[in-house]
Amino acid sequence: MPQVRIPRDARAWIEVDHAALAHNVREMLRVLSPRSALMAILKADAYGHGAASVAPTLSWSGASAFGVATIEEGIELRRAGIPQPILVLGYVQGRDSVHALAHWKLIPTVCSPGHARELADDLENLAERGLLSPASLPLEAHVKLDTGMSRLGLHWSEAGRFARCLREIELIRASGIYSHLAAADSPDASSLNEQRQRFEKAAAEMQSLGLSPCLLHLANSAATLADRSLHYDLVRVGIALYGIYPARHLTGRADLRPALAIRSRLSQVKDVPQGAGVSYGGAFVAPRRMRAAVVPIGYADGVPWTLSQRLEVIVRGRRLQQLGRITMDQLVVDLGPVPDARPGETVTLLGRDGAEAITVEDWARLLRTIPWEVLCLFKSRLPRVEVGVLEEKAGARTPARTIEGREPKAAHPGRHAARSRRRASVPAS
Ligand SMILES: Cc1ncc(COP(=O)(O)O)c(C=O)c1O
Repeated sequence: MPQVRIPRDARAWIEVDHAALAHNVREMLRVLSPRSALMAILKADAYGHGAASVAPTLSWSGASAFGVATIEEGIELRRAGIPQPILVLGYVQGRDSVHALAHWKLIPTVCSPGHARELADDLENLAERGLLSPASLPLEAHVKLDTGMSRLGLHWSEAGRFARCLREIELIRASGIYSHLAAADSPDASSLNEQRQRFEKAAAEMQSLGLSPCLLHLANSAATLADRSLHYDLVRVGIALYGIYPARHLTGRADLRPALAIRSRLSQVKDVPQGAGVSYGGAFVAPRRMRAAVVPIGYADGVPWTLSQRLEVIVRGRRLQQLGRITMDQLVVDLGPVPDARPGETVTLLGRDGAEAITVEDWARLLRTIPWEVLCLFKSRLPRVEVGVLEEKAGARTPARTIEGREPKAAHPGRHAARSRRRASVPAS
């Protein structure tokens, strides 16, 4: 367990290891194609790690840009002083949203010609009313193609129509073309290869129609680890930055370290007499006199009720079994392996303590879900404690790679085609 000063009275907390985050960024840069840059995905409060606090560490260690799901998440980063490009991956609509995009210099995802026209109409309206600074126009946007995921984006076969429409819209400047992979975590690469071919064909068509130079990006963590030829100009990496392999067969492609731990402290320690029920409903009955302890964390903090009687915790480097039902704010553990444990001692629910570790993947297996969802479980009631921050800042900074757009292979004259190779703009905070 890293040495860290926990607020003395904290009953339970999320520990975020910034040294691990920095290490993971550098590992992903190590596997990255030399001409590609890293976009760190910070949606859902950086997968539960705290977006505003982890973003500086990620950029310090080499992330060039950030991706979020919503405008609010982007604004939170700007308010925290993050100057790098921020792409909003989710759907945006409405005049207030468009105003916020322009004001905070956030890059929206545009997912169809109709969507582009709506955004442009809102921009025009705001501009006419003097509500936009001239510098915020044209609004930079990334175009999203659906190459097989059937989620957000225009069907790849309509890329040409999309490009022609965007050429006519002066108020929006498409500076990126991207798509999302549906099965990059599968050892069978056939779906991925099909999506790659569609993406390359559609992107080439769009670029030949004047959408260039544009950043091309397709890879999530799994694709980044799986195949360098998928890296293009940018990779959008989420789960791997938080130290979790997106698939078992990709384990070891980079040396990833989990950055999140969930810890608490033993509160009351007691003897439970033989035959006594433990917690609601007496779902567990003590088969003998038992030494037990209450741990002040429960499902309101994000420890799922469905883990009742299957959860394990670590105290003094020993695994303990949780007894009976997990309740809203508390749970009970069997102190059998450490009968002399005392109130106040640290309890690890997720993370490492000595030779023992309980991983996000362990919980995902127990819960029959995916590690992504496990990371999103923990609620605002738990304070975050950052470890490894000072050590990290004292370490060498890794310069972020410059993001550069690709020239089309065969440029046709068009509104954007004559532009020289362009660096991604770095918005002011
Ligand atoms: C569009 C998009 N790109 C990239 C990512 C990052 O994925 P991962 O966490 O698997 O790296 C996500 C996450 O869901 C996403 O929705």
